Amino acid sequence: MGVWMRSILWDAESQQLRIINQLALPAELRYLDLKTFTETFEAIKNMAVRGAPAIAVCGAFALYFAARESVTRDPAALLEATRDAREALLRLRPTAVNLQQVTGRILQQASALEGSADDLRAHLLELAQEAAERAVETNLLIARYGAELLHDGDEILHHCNTGALAAVDYGTALGVIRMAHEQGKRVHVYVTETRPCLQGSRLTAWELQQYGIPYDIVVDSAAGYLLRTGKVDRVLFGADRVAANGDVVNKVGTYLLALAAYDNGIPAYSAFPLDSVDFDSPSAEAIPIEERDPSEVLALTYRGLPAAPEGARARNYAFDVTPHRLLSGLITDRGILYPPFFRNLSVLKPHGREE
Ligand code: MRU
Repeated sequence: MGVWMRSILWDAESQQLRIINQLALPAELRYLDLKTFTETFEAIKNMAVRGAPAIAVCGAFALYFAARESVTRDPAALLEATRDAREALLRLRPTAVNLQQVTGRILQQASALEGSADDLRAHLLELAQEAAERAVETNLLIARYGAELLHDGDEILHHCNTGALAAVDYGTALGVIRMAHEQGKRVHVYVTETRPCLQGSRLTAWELQQYGIPYDIVVDSAAGYLLRTGKVDRVLFGADRVAANGDVVNKVGTYLLALAAYDNGIPAYSAFPLDSVDFDSPSAEAIPIEERDPSEVLALTYRGLPAAPEGARARNYAFDVTPHRLLSGLITDRGILYPPFFRNLSVLKPHGREE
């Protein structure tokens, strides 16, 4: 196993959550010590932590912080306060579904506990820690399954950041690439910049450097050229939410990548944990697409000058939908799924989920 890159870690001594501050990268590897619900809420809001699985784990700890800050001695009232905290968190990043699934499960388990308010607080901390460990174990399974698809000498096109930063440790799509590299396969990655927040050039390139995996950053719009001219063997990306039919909602630009890959007969895979699957959405049509502040688009500069005229307007769609027909396979912690995705996903539907 190569270097570990733990982006979210509970520090038992200080009783704080230590996260890598993704806003400081790549210039500086800086940590943020989170000790309150509000600090954790803000870290998710301003994208100091981002990536669907990482947001979910931070959200789990945020629930614990909310319970720790509540002064009530009544377990029912404490549970209610935790539920309110969850509702506030869910409004922050409406597309990524992992937060909803992980915190929903935690509250279901917590409400089954019979004990004092302090027992409930302790239980919430345990459940958050378990969620973090589970994310890492899940990523390793995804990585092992997915690495089978990669061959020595492969050229891979990867979108956004799906590494340890986005997923506690190891990563999903980037974890697949890491695993193949650690297995001795020589792989090279084309890293899309991923405008406007540059998760590719700021974060994925930085992670690949830490792992010693060769890469080149390309502008997002170069993908079509690379795919049409046979420079890419496989396209890999993550998912923020997957519908029951296999439609993938992921970082904006994913659809165009998948479309160009499909048109050129190049396999495209989405890698994600089962917590990213929203079995209640038959297709991605009704899944909310987060629209972020236009300032993220307009803040770009070119040679130190604003890249848009003063007073310019912008729309900042953070995600898009890739119809399942464009995908060759879905890499999950339960194996690689091939079409028909609806049928093959449905057998993995967990029983007794919170509705
Ligand atoms: O807006 P972000 O940076 O949170 O979006 C992240 C992505 O789109 C990732 O591809 C997705 O969350 C999977 S991360 C393992």
